[in-house]
Order: sequence, then structure tokens, then C-alpha cells
Amino acid sequence: MALPNHGANAHHVYERLGIEMPEKIMDFSENVNPLGPPAFVMERWSTYAELITKYPDPAGEPFLSAAAKYHDVSVSNIIVGNGAAELFASIAKRYENKRVVLIHPTFSEYAATLAPYHVYIKEIIAIGQLPLEEVFDEIEFAEAIYICRPNNPTGYLIPLEEIIQIVRYAKRYKCEVILDEAFLDFIDEKESFIPYLKDFPNVVVVRSMTKMYAIPGLRLGYAVGSEAFIKDIRSRLSHWNSNAIATTIGADCLQEEEYRIQAITFAKEMREGFSDFLEKWHCIVLPSTTNFLCFQLPDHARSKAFFDYLLAKGCVLRHTENFKGLDGKWFRVGMKEKAQMEHLQREMTTWFEENLSS
Ligand SMILES: Cc1ncc(COP(=O)(O)O)c(C=O)c1O
Repeated sequence: MALPNHGANAHHVYERLGIEMPEKIMDFSENVNPLGPPAFVMERWSTYAELITKYPDPAGEPFLSAAAKYHDVSVSNIIVGNGAAELFASIAKRYENKRVVLIHPTFSEYAATLAPYHVYIKEIIAIGQLPLEEVFDEIEFAEAIYICRPNNPTGYLIPLEEIIQIVRYAKRYKCEVILDEAFLDFIDEKESFIPYLKDFPNVVVVRSMTKMYAIPGLRLGYAVGSEAFIKDIRSRLSHWNSNAIATTIGADCLQEEEYRIQAITFAKEMREGFSDFLEKWHCIVLPSTTNFLCFQLPDHARSKAFFDYLLAKGCVLRHTENFKGLDGKWFRVGMKEKAQMEHLQREMTTWFEENLSS
């Protein structure tokens, strides 16, 4: 039976593989900030109760204005979504019966949301650096190209200069660019494309609040782009699409500068420590810029045995069976708290000692 297409909800992996789920598991397959939501969320929790008795603001206030201020853009250039995932679902309809370029391995929701609309998908495979000439060639004939920056699952960050080159080329050929910056918060706002949007009405940037602020259960995301692009995305969303608790908490999350710096520093520290550990065991590690990384065993023929062993021990990695170009030979690991990273390394060491000659 096929493994799930997403990380998190680990019980599905156990069910599909017929492996008994241990009472305690550590889920490295999901990749939200391991430090949890900002402290104010729990401190003010009781104050959110009254929000459920009223309809939320249909435009997503107070989050809409907070996000506009955060990025120094007008509210007419932003649309608030019930998670970034909802916005991809709306964007996809724009490309009904058209040609779209996807660069794999990447987030599976691009293809999933395009699927109902008979979109012809041209796939480019690039684990790291982009084959720019191929990208340019495809842009000439495409209605849109989706780019995940930094990329999920590899953590690769296409240099900003390259993105500018791509969108410029795309503009010339009337190709739209869907730029997914869901994990950009873990790098630096200076890397965002949002300040350049003014010159590129063919680009929309999609952002998620659920990764950095560890609120995937609340659902909150947004897109920034030209007024016309934003209006079109809105036209396919339901009224009151975002909930009042998410938009209230989300607005305050954007104030949390210190929290963000701490999360970025922590993710870097965990990622570097884990990379060193993997390299010591001769694994191949993809250099990541965000809060997860991908690695391959020195002998990828042992990948399934390794994955199943860790599942039995309660450590859930993200398989890569559904990521084109990675094809199950790699694993993605979301950074967790120090104690959990150490626990994973102990379990992995046991398997390595029994199965790899160092
Ligand atoms: C690259 C990427 N973009 C967008 C999303 C969706 O984020 P949200 O939780 O805001 O719907 C995800 C979720 O895993 C993701 O990995």
C-alpha cells in the first residue's frame, strides 16, 4: 500500500506498513518549529474563547493589516488563506487546460491541486542547483512555473539573483511564477522576493504561518501579489475562509522578532550538528538552509530496512517515495528539540553499528 504523501499524522505510516506503533513516538517527518508556538499563545488562550461566538472578518483582519505592515505592502496586495494549502487550491484553477512547469522533488500539493484541472505538467528534476537553460526553455511555452524557495524537501535555496533572472524571463514570455516561501522565515526576510513584486505582476508569493510559528492546527497562510492576481485568488475562496482565532494569533505572531531569531539560530544549530553526525557515518547530506534536511545512507539499498527499524523504535522519518528525483532513497528529517535529536542519533548509531562498516 502506498505511503502517505505528507509528513505528520504518523499513525498513517504505521498503518500502511503494518508496523505496530509504539506508545511513544518522535515524529521527525513533520517540519514545524520544534520550539512550539510563541509563549503569548498559551498565556492569552482564554481570551480567544469569545472569538468563537462571532463570525470572523471576511478579509482575515486583524491578520491582513498586520501582514501588510510586516511586508510594507498594501492590504489590496494580500489575500489571507486557511493555510497556504488553501491558496494553492485556488491558484490551480487559473491554469485549467494550460501548461505548467514543476521542479521536482518538491511539495506534492502543487501537482495535487492542479490535477483536477487537466493541467499539462512539464516536470524538471533538480535536486540542487537549477538547470537554468532548461527552465528558460520551458518558461517560453508555459502558463506558469511553481518554485519552492527554500525547497521542501531538499532545503535548497535558489539564489535570489537567479530567481530575479527567472521571473524576468517569465515576464517576457507572459509566464506566471508561483513562488512558495513557506519556509523562508527560517532563513532571513532579506531573502524574500516580496520587495521585488512591484515590478513583477506575473509573480505571486505564497507564505505560511504554520511552520515558523508552530500552528499547523490553526491553519493560516497568505499570498502577496498584484491586485489583479490577488482578486482572482479571492474569487474562488469561500466567504469567512479564515478563522478568527488564527487571524488574531497570527497578527500577534508577526510581532515576535526575538522568537524568530531564536528559532532560526536553533534550527541552524540542530541542522549542523545532525549533518556532522550523518557525515561521520558516510551518509550523503543535502546542504539545507531551513529546519529540515535530507540525507541518503551510504548504501541506499538498505533504506527500507533502516526506515522500518526506526519506526519500530518510535522514530518516524519522512520517507521520500513520492518525491520525484529522491524516489525513496533519501530521508527528510525535521529538526526537533535537542533531546529528541540526540535520541534519534542514538537509535541510528545502533543501526549503523550493526549494519554499516564504518
Ligand atoms: C513547501 C510548503 N508550502 C506550503 C505548505 C502548506 O502550508 P500550510 O500549513 O500553511 O497550509 C507546506 C506544508 O507542508 C509546505 O511544505
